[in-house]
Amino acid sequence: MKEAEIRKQYKKKIDEINQHNKLYFEKSSPKISDSQYDKIKKDIFDLEKKYSYLKSASSPSNSLGYTPSKNFVKSKHRVKMLSLSNAFDVEDLENFEKKIFNYLNKKIDIDYSVEPKIDGISASLTYKNGLLVMGTSRGDGTTGEVITENLKTINDIPHKITNKDFPKDIDIRGEVFIEKDDFKKLKNDFANPRNAASGSLRQKNPLETKKIPLNFVAYTYGYFESNKIKKQSDFLISLKKWGFKINEHNKILKTIKDLEIFHKKFENDRFDLKYDVDGLVYKINNLDLQNRLGFTANSPRWAIAHKFSADSAYSIIKDINIQVGRTGALTPVARIKPVNIGGVVVSNATLHNEDEIIRKDIRLGDTVKVERAGDVIPHVVLVDLKKREKGSKKFIFPNNCPSCGSETIKEFNKTTKKYDAVRRCTNEGYDCEKIAIEKIKHFISKDAMNIDGLGKKVVENFWDLNLIRFPQDIYNLDYNKISNLEGWGDLSVSNLKYSIDQSKKVSLDKFLYAIGIRHIGIENAKLLAEHVKSIKNFINLVNKDKFNEFLDIDGIGETQINSLKTFFENKLNYKIIEKLSSILNISDLKLNKDGKLLNNTFMFTGKLSNISRAEAKSLIEENSGSVVSSVNKKLKYLIIGEKPTNRKVQQAKELGIKIISQKEWLNLLN
Ligand code: IVH
Repeated sequence: MKEAEIRKQYKKKIDEINQHNKLYFEKSSPKISDSQYDKIKKDIFDLEKKYSYLKSASSPSNSLGYTPSKNFVKSKHRVKMLSLSNAFDVEDLENFEKKIFNYLNKKIDIDYSVEPKIDGISASLTYKNGLLVMGTSRGDGTTGEVITENLKTINDIPHKITNKDFPKDIDIRGEVFIEKDDFKKLKNDFANPRNAASGSLRQKNPLETKKIPLNFVAYTYGYFESNKIKKQSDFLISLKKWGFKINEHNKILKTIKDLEIFHKKFENDRFDLKYDVDGLVYKINNLDLQNRLGFTANSPRWAIAHKFSADSAYSIIKDINIQVGRTGALTPVARIKPVNIGGVVVSNATLHNEDEIIRKDIRLGDTVKVERAGDVIPHVVLVDLKKREKGSKKFIFPNNCPSCGSETIKEFNKTTKKYDAVRRCTNEGYDCEKIAIEKIKHFISKDAMNIDGLGKKVVENFWDLNLIRFPQDIYNLDYNKISNLEGWGDLSVSNLKYSIDQSKKVSLDKFLYAIGIRHIGIENAKLLAEHVKSIKNFINLVNKDKFNEFLDIDGIGETQINSLKTFFENKLNYKIIEKLSSILNISDLKLNKDGKLLNNTFMFTGKLSNISRAEAKSLIEENSGSVVSSVNKKLKYLIIGEKPTNRKVQQAKELGIKIISQKEWLNLLN
């Protein structure tokens, strides 16, 4: 059969299953028996197994092929459910510790709570006065889906806890997972145990969840009213006492050397476990220290996941395509002969950038080793030169953007004094089709406008149909037209409309992140938002070309300023923002307005003792103050550490700014 024919057949099956899903989930009136339904599902799996290029967002191999997520009520987590950053080797662990020492501005001995990282789905359980009142999925980390009834079907989850010392109000968090043996029985329905757990948990009918043997292991807390516990290890002991299961391999270790030895041993032993483990989690055991270290945008500074090494396999490069990213970066991707790596069929592997191709001398037709670790994108590690065919030619990286034909360049990095490894399209605007699509995908993403009814695939589809060209088009969609498109029904259209409407209310920092200015990530967008306070002020500053004002912000440097300038040199970008600000309700950043340092600005000069600049800055901000990076009239206090810069002290004196010591500053805070 020809590929086109196979695709057609596949699509027919997918449409068929979608139809039945709809009848079952939305209308609760199935028209076929369970076994007929299973047969269609199996046909789809068989096709996917045989032809790895077949993929569909609504395939049953993606969880249950049906996302009833929009049907679940959502709830904002009282404390965010963040993810962990990853370490792959000792160097990563050393860097992790180094960052902690830098943050604290001193070296300390650390006790780590070491816990196996079970590869499942995290869930949060809210107990009030001993009763399980709500259970949620992680969702986007800020807001989860309320799946209480489904979670209640899990035997490991207590509904009522009567211990006297059980907190009055607490979120218990842990992992929902399925054991390997139980998964064997479900192999035909799900790609891996993790998908099985996820699919089962998000069933609309809790009785369906009950059919699949799920387990729950507790490991942390979210909200915790008047927490008196001092150590993670003590918290784990309490969890057990209160009736939760905890992992039997949790332990305390002290040095990176110890972590490394345990990791090596556990990596080999893990195959004897009843469940899948994809690494170890190391958490600083002292909870006060955890609090002091806090979080970066996405993950805690006090914990890291040490992944087990990647699985790998050999395959042949059939083609090399160049992908164009949101910021114009050209990324070469190898299309390889499909190969099974650790249970997942891989047909694409990243080659990172032009320099990597040159360094490894990767060519079409080469036999290459491909590695894959957990959720990380598979990549080519090396070329088997013995297998290289005679007459093979070096791969020539294109000089022009494959999407819009513009010239491409490698930028010169002033700090490293080197040219970038990444080649970029010079277009960087909405005139380059691929960049435009990626910009819109970024705009809708979770950390940006968070329009969950509009996935990446839908954006591509809407682009092809000429429904979207710019972000503002999202707010002017022709829903009648969409409801007539294949795969769309009344419910999915109303869900889409709902999530687009919901996204209209957005905080300034998320909006500034969403518009996708290079070098303005979540953290920098927050800094800008805190500084300008309202979208009106932001537009005003841009209008007056007053970008240098941002140099006052501690954390914003020349790279960001130049990027802002380049972005707004393109008048279209300005128009888009103006247009969006008239459609959206962009709220000012909610600042903590009841702290002791409200309306006070600070600046540091010289080395502080026993505290890093970063921690000092967050202390000030937690107390409603702000930190600036230059001496000017707006500055109220200059805090002097060891060996201050004389020029700054002099300037401060001239402007009559209060000059205080670290001790005096801490006194202001009590
Ligand atoms: S602590 C901010 N402990 O790993 C703290 N997570 O990328 C995050 N996980 O979403 C949670 N075992 O699903 C923690 N012992 C453990 C864990 C664990 C597995 C998962 C969890 C989380 C992800 C972090």
